[in-house]
Amino acid sequence: MKGVILAGGLGTRLSPLTRVTNKHLLPVYDRPMIYYPIECLVNAGIRDIMIVTGGDHAGDFLKLLGNGSDFGLDDLHYTYQKGEGGIADALRLAEHFADGDKIIVVLGDNIIEKNIRAAVGGFFTQRQGARILLKEVDDPQRFGVAEIQGSAVMGIEEKPAEPKSNLAVIGIYMFDAQVFDIIKTLKPSGRGEMEITDVNNAYIAQGTMTYEILDGWWTDAGTFESLHRAANLIAAGGANHVPEDRPATLFEMGASA
Ligand code: G1P
Repeated sequence: MKGVILAGGLGTRLSPLTRVTNKHLLPVYDRPMIYYPIECLVNAGIRDIMIVTGGDHAGDFLKLLGNGSDFGLDDLHYTYQKGEGGIADALRLAEHFADGDKIIVVLGDNIIEKNIRAAVGGFFTQRQGARILLKEVDDPQRFGVAEIQGSAVMGIEEKPAEPKSNLAVIGIYMFDAQVFDIIKTLKPSGRGEMEITDVNNAYIAQGTMTYEILDGWWTDAGTFESLHRAANLIAAGGANHVPEDRPATLFEMGASA
């Protein structure tokens, strides 16, 4: 399984902070924002990682991260998204890198407290389809919101005015190789973007979507309020940093496809 971190976009909700740098390079307490999704993947046993970036400051990712040695990685892959076509449009660029493997996609401004190794290991053994992670929130209108019945996801609505639940779809998604064919069928939404929610609803329609409720805190960091909250949560002691001994890979953990 391979990891894809989406770190493009113009970060306009954080202007003027993002006028001279990329949102994902801004500090969140003691680290640049992009460190957290990388650590999330490495701690879950993923070692093949691609960063999709964009905008005027893409070269700074290379300066900061190099070949990923700070995270115990042998190398890091990069690609560049022109313009702002949305999350699913950015993901499209990882098709060649994925090369038929399952992928786990992390939005570069999503930060979580705990290790998601168990959820990733579960998807590794899931025959096909996709898996999302859900978290109860007080402000579901800001997110993709899932309606569930028992173990089934019935549908996801993107930023609904009247949410059917308080379960936000967090920005960590697991997909099989079909995802790239699904993306090719999408049309831009009302906000002119290719929506990841439309990708997820295609898997739901197929009956191959599974979900888990995330343990521990989760926050995005793409607005002033959430960026501040993220820093406070990390300062209070909850950072899932890469340990000195590199975490075992999924293969070493004995998971089988
Ligand atoms: C995106 C997704 C949304 C998801 C959220 C998580 O929203 O579209 O479904 O709940 O990320 O952070 P955006 O950040 O584009 O507003």
